Amino acid sequence: MTIAKIETTDNGIELSWNAGGNAGGSNGGSDRFHFVWLRDHLPDPAFFDTQTGERLIDAHDYLESAKPEAVRLTSSGDLEIHWPGLPAPTLYKADWLRANAYSDNKRAARASLLPGPESWPWQQASEVRRHDYAELMEAPASAWALLADFKRYGFAVIEHAPDKEGVVAALTQWLGYTREVAFGLVREIKSEPETLNVAFTSRLVKPHIDGTNYIYPYEVQFLHCLANEAEGGDSWIVDGYGAAERLRQEDPAAFETLSEVPVDYVIGAGGHDIRHSAPIIELGRDGAVSIMRYSNAQRRVMSLPYDDVERFYAAYGKLSRIVNDPEHQIPFRFRPGDVLMFDNHRALHARGAFKPETGRRHLQLATTDRDMVDSMMRRLAKDLRRNEDLAAILPQTP
Ligand code: OGA
Ligand code: ZN
Repeated sequence: MTIAKIETTDNGIELSWNAGGNAGGSNGGSDRFHFVWLRDHLPDPAFFDTQTGERLIDAHDYLESAKPEAVRLTSSGDLEIHWPGLPAPTLYKADWLRANAYSDNKRAARASLLPGPESWPWQQASEVRRHDYAELMEAPASAWALLADFKRYGFAVIEHAPDKEGVVAALTQWLGYTREVAFGLVREIKSEPETLNVAFTSRLVKPHIDGTNYIYPYEVQFLHCLANEAEGGDSWIVDGYGAAERLRQEDPAAFETLSEVPVDYVIGAGGHDIRHSAPIIELGRDGAVSIMRYSNAQRRVMSLPYDDVERFYAAYGKLSRIVNDPEHQIPFRFRPGDVLMFDNHRALHARGAFKPETGRRHLQLATTDRDMVDSMMRRLAKDLRRNEDLAAILPQTP
């Protein structure tokens, strides 16, 4: 990529790109750059550490002198700027400028590499794609497909994993690391005689997310089935974002209430006292639901401002009805070797009561951060791009 033409304005430049190679004519489009941005990205070893790419100079030291003395197109088709206070002009490579241009369409294309949330297109677990455990860590396209499902729908199903211990740790470590929580690195889910958590009994466990009592609830969860021989214990998951959006549509005031009024959550595990108070519905910068902090079981004594009590309960009752509406649920039964990978900020999970005297039921669960899913997808994208057939799987980028 080379620059065909530079136009200077008061506060920056517009670069017209050559369509291909170094030939003249400029129909490769154009991009605008501010002087302050160019000064902030000075390609100079005194400015950025060459090994780590980290910035070395504080912004206040140069922002006031972010007006060039001279701007020039070099014979190689790159950009050269002479900044005040610097002994020599600085060369900005055209390829680098093009790759980092920040026009709206280029920013959107960069952001769209990782899929965003979509509503659930199916009614039954049998319609959901299942991913083969052995293939994940071998074939980048299989791993991409799993993680893309996770990003779109808030969950993905893995099958044919061994029905032995170690699977959930292998999966979190494949992504990078296991997040240790009060339950430890791996949570054992079996019916136990004495426990602090209803999930460790044989009782019905209604739709909920885990870790509601944490300032930042767990993100990526791997729930692996080692045995499911007992009568009962069927599972279902609920699209938490879908449920919240339905509430927003049907009763905007109730939605607003649940995004404002804090709910008190406590889980006593491992002798700790981890509690947090936060609204059920947390919104991201774009106004979309980002965390659905719902666990009716783990709500404790509600400490609400007096005037919020009635409006809270009215709104909460509506959400409770929606969350328990089969329309938002996918029912399924765990088979040994199945792993449910889910976004605990979005997908609520639940299971029916079971009869422990009729057979063994054993699940394990481990957690990691969503950053590790995104990181793995970026790494996979690099692998996939190197292979033309596989590159078709990726979203189109200009
Ligand atoms: C849990 C849980 C579900 C199950 O441990 O938090 O929800 O199927 N378990 O046992
Ligand atoms: Zn749970």
